[in-house]
Amino acid sequence: MLTKERVQSFLKEIEVDDLVTNLHVMGNDVYIDMVAHSPAMHEKKKLEVAMKQAFASEFGEETQLKLKITSPELPAQPEIKGKEIKGIKNIIAVASGKGGVGKSTVSANLAVTLAKMGFKVGILDADIYGPSVPTMFDTEGQKPISVEVEGKNLMQPIENYGVKMLSIGYFSGANQAVVWRGPMASKALNQMLRDANWGELDFLLIDLPPGTGDIHLSIIQEVPVTGAVIVSTPQHIALADVRKGIAMFNMESINIPVLGLIENMAYFTPEELPDNKYYIFGNQGAQYMAEDLGIPVLGEIPLIQSIREAGDVGRPAALQEDSKIAAIYTETAQKMIESLVERNKNLPATEAVKITTMAGCSPKKK
Ligand SMILES: Nc1ncnc2c1ncn2[C@@H]1O[C@H](COP(=O)(O)OP(=O)(O)OP(=O)(O)O)[C@@H](O)[C@H]1O
Ligand SMILES: [Mg+2]
Repeated sequence: MLTKERVQSFLKEIEVDDLVTNLHVMGNDVYIDMVAHSPAMHEKKKLEVAMKQAFASEFGEETQLKLKITSPELPAQPEIKGKEIKGIKNIIAVASGKGGVGKSTVSANLAVTLAKMGFKVGILDADIYGPSVPTMFDTEGQKPISVEVEGKNLMQPIENYGVKMLSIGYFSGANQAVVWRGPMASKALNQMLRDANWGELDFLLIDLPPGTGDIHLSIIQEVPVTGAVIVSTPQHIALADVRKGIAMFNMESINIPVLGLIENMAYFTPEELPDNKYYIFGNQGAQYMAEDLGIPVLGEIPLIQSIREAGDVGRPAALQEDSKIAAIYTETAQKMIESLVERNKNLPATEAVKITTMAGCSPKKK
C-alpha cells in the first residue's frame, strides 16, 4: 500500500525532500507542495517533468501525483549598504566597451521580457548624451509628472509595456544635455535614480552609455549596483574594449560582479528563413572569451531585421508572443536570473563605491 513514509523515503532517495513543504497521501493520490530551486520559470517546469517521471516509474501509473510547485521569491541583495534606493531589489548595469553594439536594444528587450515573466521592472536610461529609451518604448514627448510621496516631490516614471522608465529624453532642454559636463550629467542621473517614485522593483536596469568613462564611474559611485551584464557583438568580442568594460567592474575598489555576457547580432537570420543561422563574424568567440574570463554567456541574440524595426517603432521585438526572438530573450533573462541568484547567495551586498581617482579609470576631464 502507498504510505506517506514510503513516499517520504522515495523523495529522499531522489534528493528533493528538502524542496517539499507539504505532503499527504490519500489512497492512490499523493499531494505534494514544493518550492523550486530558483525563481526561473524553467526550473519549475524541469522539476515538474522530473517528478512526474520519477513517480510513474516508482509507483506505477495508477498513482496520481497532485503536484503544486511554487517559485521561491527572488532573493534581494542581502543588505544594501551605503546609498540604498528604497524598494529596489536588484540594480543591473547593462554595459559594453564599444558603442552601437545594442545595449539599449538588449536592455529594452530584457526589460519587457522580465515584465512578461511577472517581475516589477524599471529602466533608467543613463545615456545623457544620446537617450534612446523614449523612442524604443514609443513614449517620445511624454513628460513625467510630479507626485508627492511622504512629503517629498518625486518624478513619476513613464510607463509602457509594464516597464517604468526615466530618461533625460523626457525632460525639456534634453538637447542641451549634450554640452553638459560630467558633474551635471551625473547630477541629472542621480535625480532620476533617487528623486523618482520607482516604487517596488525587482529589477532596475541601467542602460549605460558606451565606454568606460565618467558617467559609468559616477553611477557606480552613487549606486549599489548588484551586477553588470556586458553586451558585445561578435566582431567586437575579441577586442580589448570588452575586457576593459569587464575590468572596470572587476576593479578591487569597485568590485561589481559581472553576471555574464550577451552576444548581440551573434548570427544573421533572414526573416524568410527563420531557422537558418549565418555566423558572418565567426561563432563561439563569446564562449571562448567568457570561459577565459570565467563569466557565463547569458544569451546569443541574432541579427534580425525585425529587431531593428521594432526598436524604431517603439515596440521591443521580444513582445511578439510565441516568436523565436521572445523565446531567445526569455532564455537569456532566465540565465541572467540564475547568475543573479548565485551572486546574491554567495556575495555580500555591493557597497556604493567611493572613487576619487584610480589609475587608468579616473573621471575624464572634458
Ligand atoms: N539583434 C539586432 N538585430 C538587428 N538590429 C539590431 C540588433 N540589436 C541592435 N540593433 C540595431 O542596432 C542599432 C544600435 O543599437 P543600440 O542603439 O541598441 O546600441 P547601443 O549599444 O545602445 O548604442 P550606443 O552605444 O549608441 O548607446 C539600432 O539601430 C538597433 O535597432
Ligand atoms: Mg544605447
